[in-house]
Amino acid sequence: MADQKFPVTGKEVRLARYAENQPTKDDFEIVDVEVTEPASGNVVVHNVYLQVTAVMRDLMTEEPGLPMMPPYKVGERPWGGAVGVVVASASPDLAVGDTVQHMDGWTDYSTGPASQYFKVEASWFPGPEYFLNQGITAYHGMADVAEVGEGDVVFVSNAAGGVGSLAGQIAKARGAKRVIGSAGSAEKVEYLTKELGYDAAFDYHDGPVLDRLRELAPDGIDVFFDLVGGEQFEAAVQAAAQGARFALCGTVSAQTGNAEGAFPRLDIMAGIIRQIVIKPFSTYHTPEQIQAWTQHFAQWLQEGKIVLPYTVVEGGVSAAPEALVALLGGAYKGNVLVKISEG
Ligand SMILES: NC(=O)c1ccc[n+]([C@@H]2O[C@H](COP(=O)([O-])OP(=O)(O)OC[C@H]3O[C@@H](n4cnc5c(N)ncnc54)[C@H](OP(=O)(O)O)[C@@H]3O)[C@@H](O)[C@H]2O)c1
Repeated sequence: MADQKFPVTGKEVRLARYAENQPTKDDFEIVDVEVTEPASGNVVVHNVYLQVTAVMRDLMTEEPGLPMMPPYKVGERPWGGAVGVVVASASPDLAVGDTVQHMDGWTDYSTGPASQYFKVEASWFPGPEYFLNQGITAYHGMADVAEVGEGDVVFVSNAAGGVGSLAGQIAKARGAKRVIGSAGSAEKVEYLTKELGYDAAFDYHDGPVLDRLRELAPDGIDVFFDLVGGEQFEAAVQAAAQGARFALCGTVSAQTGNAEGAFPRLDIMAGIIRQIVIKPFSTYHTPEQIQAWTQHFAQWLQEGKIVLPYTVVEGGVSAAPEALVALLGGAYKGNVLVKISEG
């Protein structure tokens, strides 16, 4: 039943207090926990990677009110997407050595009913890190919400982040004519154009965003995929082409700065004149959405049309709190994975 000798001690992260402004690593505590043989129907999974994402900042507050996303509770282990390997099984559904994807990543070892773990084939992708990315949201927003296609001029804000680094590539793979991205440093701007196939990019700190958009998209933007809110949204309204589609995905400027980033002003007259279609959306990770992304991701990887942008943070699960704080501060590019073990 098990290759692993039990009991074994692992580390897990717990929320120590709710975040008030910007999270710090002291909002979490690291605890040693003993892991025993799985009860009937259960498995023990040794985690390999935990994915950290900006929305975790919201989940650290008492009442985030996010759909399908239970908030983190003080004294408890947060939830978070992970990939791991089954090291003990008391279930006929999973065997020792199976690679699984699941939502219990802030720990060395995860134990629970086999039904909570989704078996994946390690051979589907070049490595286990490929199972953890923000592509479901990026694909849903670009394909279903913005309906990006041939000839579109596209602007993605926060283009070097987890969602944005895939959103721009998805737009290109679907035939967009020109994809423009914004990011917070010269290094990230270069990363967008040199490694992710963006046609143009700019640092949003470098003067008014509207000036940069007018220069880079003189005929206007057809699709805006917004992850930031605030000034970038207001500028995109002014730079929109007739009938532009806005897919509003996130307001990271409110999550990491002052809350006003979530409340940009809409120039209603500009919206009317240009007949802008503004669609905020939440991704529910339905089976259809998961399948649509997984299929396209595998195909585009094979065709060389997409790369997985990601950063691996070493240091085990104890490094996860600092990784989340650093992510919000702009330290990383692409999807952010904390390496928990070799599996
Ligand atoms: N609607 C949905 O279904 C859905 C699903 C997933 C995520 N989201 C939302 O999408 C957004 C992005 O999520 P993510 O996980 O991909 O996060 P992320 O991009 O990895 O977030 C971190 C990045 O945000 C940028 N940032 C921080 N403060 C900023 C500011 N004031 N202005 C502009 N950029 C700033 C930083 O990049 P720079 O160095 O470039 O500033 C940093 O690297 C979040 O708001 C998240 O809640 C929505």
